[in-house]
Amino acid sequence: MNLVVVSNRVARGMANEPMTGGLAAALLPVVEKSGAIWVGSSGRVRDGAQKEPFAEIEALGAGALAMLDLPAAHYGGYYEGFANSALWPALHSRSDLIRASQEDYLSYREVNAFMARALLRFQKQDTTFWVQDYHFLALGAELRELGVTQPIGFFLHTPWPARAVIGGVPHHRRLVEAMLAYDLIGFQTQDDCENFLGYLMADLGLKVESGVVTSRHGQTRVAVFPIGIDPEKFAQQSIKAVSHPDVSRLRRSLNGEKLAIGVDRLDYSKGLVNRICAFDQMWTAQPALARTVSLLQIATPSRGGIEAYGNLQSDLAKLISDVNGRHGEVDWTPIRYLNKGFSQTVLAGLYRTAQVGVVTPLHDGMNLVAKEYVAAQNPADPGVLVLSKFAGAANELDTALLVNPHDIDGMARAIATALSMPLLERRMRWEAMMKKLRSSTIQQWFADFVDALQEAQLDKGASAPLIAESPTLWPRRSANGGMRYH
Ligand code: G6P
Repeated sequence: MNLVVVSNRVARGMANEPMTGGLAAALLPVVEKSGAIWVGSSGRVRDGAQKEPFAEIEALGAGALAMLDLPAAHYGGYYEGFANSALWPALHSRSDLIRASQEDYLSYREVNAFMARALLRFQKQDTTFWVQDYHFLALGAELRELGVTQPIGFFLHTPWPARAVIGGVPHHRRLVEAMLAYDLIGFQTQDDCENFLGYLMADLGLKVESGVVTSRHGQTRVAVFPIGIDPEKFAQQSIKAVSHPDVSRLRRSLNGEKLAIGVDRLDYSKGLVNRICAFDQMWTAQPALARTVSLLQIATPSRGGIEAYGNLQSDLAKLISDVNGRHGEVDWTPIRYLNKGFSQTVLAGLYRTAQVGVVTPLHDGMNLVAKEYVAAQNPADPGVLVLSKFAGAANELDTALLVNPHDIDGMARAIATALSMPLLERRMRWEAMMKKLRSSTIQQWFADFVDALQEAQLDKGASAPLIAESPTLWPRRSANGGMRYH
């Protein structure tokens, strides 16, 4: 099989480069090993009607990385517009932040169509396409329009929200119908899968049986594939990283004080304001904790051209300086706040240094930082993970201290509990989490999805040919949960 993986953001195979976002960091090691071709955006744009899309191609492990220049006229409407100002807020249940124009939607569709044309040059008879994330909901349908009959799978790295929220995205019906051109659609959690199937049945009137939906495109399998990490590799990296200058400088600067760490993209879904308020509350309610623990918050800026992100960046900076001003001392800064990215290796060392990992998103597809924090701990003296119950990772990491990120007092108490947790309890919780991480690795996730995609296409071959009527005419059936591959 010849695998072509597609995502908007790609990563180059350099372990010491900072990476933005869980998707690129997670895919890099597995794509590298698989020999796949990974196709994505170069981050640059190109003017005019390109006859042949321009791609910069370089080797990536056993395969290759192809970075495309996207059409200048549509890039803004596609990336900052429809993908990140309409779909992203909706997928994270922030209907209040949805901003979408007709032009943005058209640009999104144009870029999906452009990517489909660009992919044809990588197509062989035995090619399997695997499309990643919300930037390319319609890419499968565009490939089918171009006559592609090979298997095409799709995995969503974000949550899929309730029906009413998706209903707030202009053209939601057309987009979801287009998604049914995929042979396999994967979600992070059972809730996401059920929300999606609920939409198909209630809004599109489609029939779903044992996680298989029948539409005018034929059959699509819908299933859950929780993304993992490589816990052993991360653990090794964290041990090595202790001697890295950034990590050893941090250790020296602590003077016996405990450290809590948060590492996030600067995004409103990450619950950063509430997290800072929780630390503020903790130091106010328990002044004895001042000087004994500080927070290192790394918040890597992304999508800075979008108003909601700019607003968050200034609100957060103001809040942190206010908290530092109120609780700080001449020789103690409560919150160290950094707006830059770090390599995976350095992050592994920073996680190992921190006694508490705070991962408190308001809503998150999976959140691999939570898994990485756990994997980076010293087994003899592990730190404690304080984890939002609304992160996909909470389904597996249920022995973390689970918190409601809207409950500031509750979070403040959980952080204080984490700081004073006895070693025995820390070890029991950590061992249970490591067991889960070892049984559901990124390698397993990758192999499970690709296997299920092959199977989905085989089933399709055995089923009826494409049906042309409007899907809304088909009878409704009771819900059947999607299948779970683990
Ligand atoms: C999330 C998304 C990814 C995206 C990443 C970084 O993890 O699911 O698709 O690549 O954020 O976002 P950015 O817009 O900076 O690529």
